[in-house]
Amino acid sequence: MAEPDQIDEHNHAAYSAEDTVNWYDQLDALLPSEKIILEGIMPAIRGKKILDIGVGGGRTTKHLLEISRDYTGIDYSQKFAELVKKKFRLDSVYCCDARDMSRFADGSFDFVLFSFNSIDYIPHEGRLKAMAEIRRVLRPSGIFMFSTHNRNWIHTGKTAWQRPWKFSPGFVKDCLKTILLTSRRMKMKKLEVREKEYAIINDDAHNYALLTYHITIPEQVNQLKKAGFGEIKAYNMKGERVEDDANDNWTYFTAVRASSAE
Ligand SMILES: C[S@@+](CC[C@H](N)C(=O)[O-])C[C@H]1O[C@@H](n2cnc3c(N)ncnc32)[C@H](O)[C@@H]1O
Repeated sequence: MAEPDQIDEHNHAAYSAEDTVNWYDQLDALLPSEKIILEGIMPAIRGKKILDIGVGGGRTTKHLLEISRDYTGIDYSQKFAELVKKKFRLDSVYCCDARDMSRFADGSFDFVLFSFNSIDYIPHEGRLKAMAEIRRVLRPSGIFMFSTHNRNWIHTGKTAWQRPWKFSPGFVKDCLKTILLTSRRMKMKKLEVREKEYAIINDDAHNYALLTYHITIPEQVNQLKKAGFGEIKAYNMKGERVEDDANDNWTYFTAVRASSAE
């Protein structure tokens, strides 16, 4: 089982690697689920102060700038922060870790987005710190939206051939990749963590380079309540409201900054 620092080191290194940076650089579309959820909260966020955490290659930047020009982006990878700053000619993009956003005053933002499961690359204690920081930088009634890996998904932790499969070039490629990366997978497996509240699992993302936090919907709801959020809503990957779910890999959440933490 890994120390949190080891998990952090692996994930930060993966998000600083050139091939990862190039991969995120070419993404620019919102996912259908994100469009639906953003549409639902649009009246509360249009023209407001937005913080985009874990901007990566700026996939969400263009879309959020259409919602509000009052946009700030952060990423703990210097390479991503510099890329987005340059790409969108923005001064308001910083290299900053979600666990320490002391550069922003309390109540600075109306809306915080931590998209594409980016919060899942922070080990447990850090995740709780990031949530406390997000609550702090949100104004009262401000909205936090993010997605996270679903621990209850039926395929969580399974390799390509352990899932229902059909013979196809994609399946063969996935199997070959999994076999070729056996030594990395075995090394990373030793760092996995399984607790009642969450699990940190080495999945196939970025060639098994990451240790990814997984949590069930009910546990995530508890975590948000403890961190001082209310009006918590969970959504599946079609953007439909769910209470618990085993069909989808990711779950989306919106939550409102409550006046006090539990
Ligand atoms: C899965 S990528 C998503 C990128 C982008 N949000 C998107 O939707 O394409 C995760 C991003 O979160 C960033 N990240 C991870 N942990 C972070 C942290 N503690 N603080 C700020 N950024 C973080 C990574 O550097 C990476 O750019």
